[in-house]
Amino acid sequence: MPGSRGAELVSDDDIERAWHDTKLAQVLYHDWEADTYDDKWSISFDERCVTYARDRFTAVAGEPGLPYGRALEVGAGTGFFSLNLRLGGVLDEICVTDLSPGMVEAAQRNARQLGFEVEGRVADAEELPYDDATFDIVVGHAVIHHIPDVELAFREMLRVLRPGGRVVICGEPTRYGDRIARALSRATWWAATRVTHLPPLEKRWARPREELDESSRAAALEAVVDLHTFDPGELAATARRAGLSEVETVTEELTAAWFGWPVRTLEHALNPDRLGWRWASFAYQSWLRLCAVDRVLDHVVPDELFYNVSITGLRPAAS
Ligand SMILES: C[S@@+](CC[C@H](N)C(=O)[O-])C[C@H]1O[C@@H](n2cnc3c(N)ncnc32)[C@H](O)[C@@H]1O
Repeated sequence: MPGSRGAELVSDDDIERAWHDTKLAQVLYHDWEADTYDDKWSISFDERCVTYARDRFTAVAGEPGLPYGRALEVGAGTGFFSLNLRLGGVLDEICVTDLSPGMVEAAQRNARQLGFEVEGRVADAEELPYDDATFDIVVGHAVIHHIPDVELAFREMLRVLRPGGRVVICGEPTRYGDRIARALSRATWWAATRVTHLPPLEKRWARPREELDESSRAAALEAVVDLHTFDPGELAATARRAGLSEVETVTEELTAAWFGWPVRTLEHALNPDRLGWRWASFAYQSWLRLCAVDRVLDHVVPDELFYNVSITGLRPAAS
């Protein structure tokens, strides 16, 4: 569910045009989100998110070769992945790119607040404005499900990598995992918005009606910007067709996603003043415990049912 704070959402005319132009939709939606994105997704640049980013990275790419020298992030958003990977000793020199100018600004601002500068460019991952063989590694998080031609984007990542360089894309939704998570989120939203608007609860627990309406309008655009979900095997085949070698995928979060998505939805449905740090701590600790359960279930449950898929591959040394 989208957040409901921050700048005014784009006009109905823009939404109408965006229905027919997915790249325009990406820019409008993510520019609108840029200032509130870190709050919405509980993004920080500290031990919690460093561990999260580093664990996602090493789960699929391992630890050899750390830190990577010159790194490009595609669809960087506010810099959650690459900035935390830098703090975690995985990356060194970072260039952040995104289709949304607002996101590039936010990522550079976050880097400055952390005490370093990063190069930032507005760039489409299907057409990267960099010379061949510029980077040691290309990373991305929760981005390729927004890109119309995923194979073309992989080809571009490969082109800007030096021979032997690595691509690491994490946190993409799987086909079945996403279906289950969305169904649970929809049910939570339906129940929470009705229960909290019952007269005895409304004053303290309900989020104001106009904020809920704004969320619904944002949800309309969200439907235009989320283009794909992935089958892990098909995603690996797409990366190989693009020319990547030694392609591996890893899936994560089963029960953690069944818990995490309804919790996040509940947080958006309720009056934000009602949920304090105790709730945040309960939600995070529970999610961590379920992630541990999922690592055991990983041995018996098919990959396709997990929520997240990550992928890595190399530019062949001789290419
Ligand atoms: C869900 S956000 C993820 C942001 C960040 N990577 C993170 O994990 O927090 C997806 C990002 O991809 C960007 N995006 C969408 N389409 C893109 C494209 N074709 N090329 C580059 N970035 C794109 C959006 O503007 C948005 O910032």
